[in-house]
Amino acid sequence: MFFDASRRSKKVSYAIRDIVVEAAKLEKQGKKILYLNIGDPLRYDFRTPEHLWKAVFEAKEKSTSYAPSEGIREAGEAIASDFKKKGMRVDAKHIMIGNGCSELIWFAMGCIANPNDSILLPRPCYPVYQAACSYFDIKIKYYDLEEGEAWQPDIESIEKNIDKKTKAIVVINPNNPTGANYSKKVLKEIIDVAAQHKLVIFSDEIYDALLLEKKAKHYCMGSLARDVPVLVTNGLSKNFLATGFRIGWLAPNEFLVENSDIMEAVFKLGRARLCAVHPFQYAIKPALKGPKRHIREMIKKLRNRRNYVMRRIEEIDGISCTKPSAAFYAFPRIDIPIKNDKEFALGLLRKKGVCVVHGSGFGQKPETKHFRTVILPPINVLREALDKIEEFLRNLH
Ligand SMILES: Cc1ncc(COP(=O)(O)O)c(C=O)c1O
Repeated sequence: MFFDASRRSKKVSYAIRDIVVEAAKLEKQGKKILYLNIGDPLRYDFRTPEHLWKAVFEAKEKSTSYAPSEGIREAGEAIASDFKKKGMRVDAKHIMIGNGCSELIWFAMGCIANPNDSILLPRPCYPVYQAACSYFDIKIKYYDLEEGEAWQPDIESIEKNIDKKTKAIVVINPNNPTGANYSKKVLKEIIDVAAQHKLVIFSDEIYDALLLEKKAKHYCMGSLARDVPVLVTNGLSKNFLATGFRIGWLAPNEFLVENSDIMEAVFKLGRARLCAVHPFQYAIKPALKGPKRHIREMIKKLRNRRNYVMRRIEEIDGISCTKPSAAFYAFPRIDIPIKNDKEFALGLLRKKGVCVVHGSGFGQKPETKHFRTVILPPINVLREALDKIEEFLRNLH
């Protein structure tokens, strides 16, 4: 090619959407596709709460201009008081609002590490982290999530993979793709390791309200870690059913503010991209301070759908699944011998029209094979998809 794209850009991939390219091709040829690949509740029977749209429309006159780069003040204050309720102290002036958590993940990875430093990512991992680290020439080190231990992080594997160049550890809790919610004990162990090795903890808590077990509790990393630098990201996409609003935020704990200039660097990048979408920032305060009925309704639906998916997977020969207890994913394991799980996912798509994401797209323990499905669709869609997965596996046997 004469006008070659940069080497850096060629290292970036994002399995969740890459598989859609093949699905779209098949759809064009007239094949019906069941999309179970994207974690977007709005594609199914979930709707953004009306009071958030109302707040956006009411802000029309004042939000057609650029916003402050760090975000509007009333939203920053609402986010700070929400963190306070979760036990993390943060001043509104240290919070950055972005175009989704995704943008802030790119900013943070770029501000935490230099090229050739390393960042510890979970394995499996939500792939935006691999994309951002690769783009910034940051080395990726993986620590394992233990399938046999309800997908809790393996502390030994974290310790084993730290070296002199390691700058940070990423914790995704509740987790995408496994659907695990981490115990307080394991979070404290991670904090101890980070303290010992002087690492920053980046905690992605975007699913923290979506706990499917009745007595479950989520622990905000910033509420547990007092003497370790922590950055927490969260947003409107999942808990508030507003993926299209593109609103996320990033907040440091006090220890990070006192001991690091990482947040200043993030603000600098924020200024260089001007601002997050302005009108939708007015939905933040009503989301955090307003009614939360939609969350209770969402959890009820998700619990039913999760239970249905688990029941069906138990009956299907060749796959098994550790029960997800949060968020809206299941990460079944493929127990029969196959070449690799990407071919499995492509085969399922081409032969049966079911679009899931191959486990290797998230990173996984060597020798294991998985796929990720969302548990978001109504039961009739899940039934159709699982019938097809069952037929596909029967033919593979
Ligand atoms: C763990 C995790 N973090 C961040 C995001 C992206 O969130 P946003 O829509 O705020 O960019 C996702 C989306 O699937 C996710 O699963």
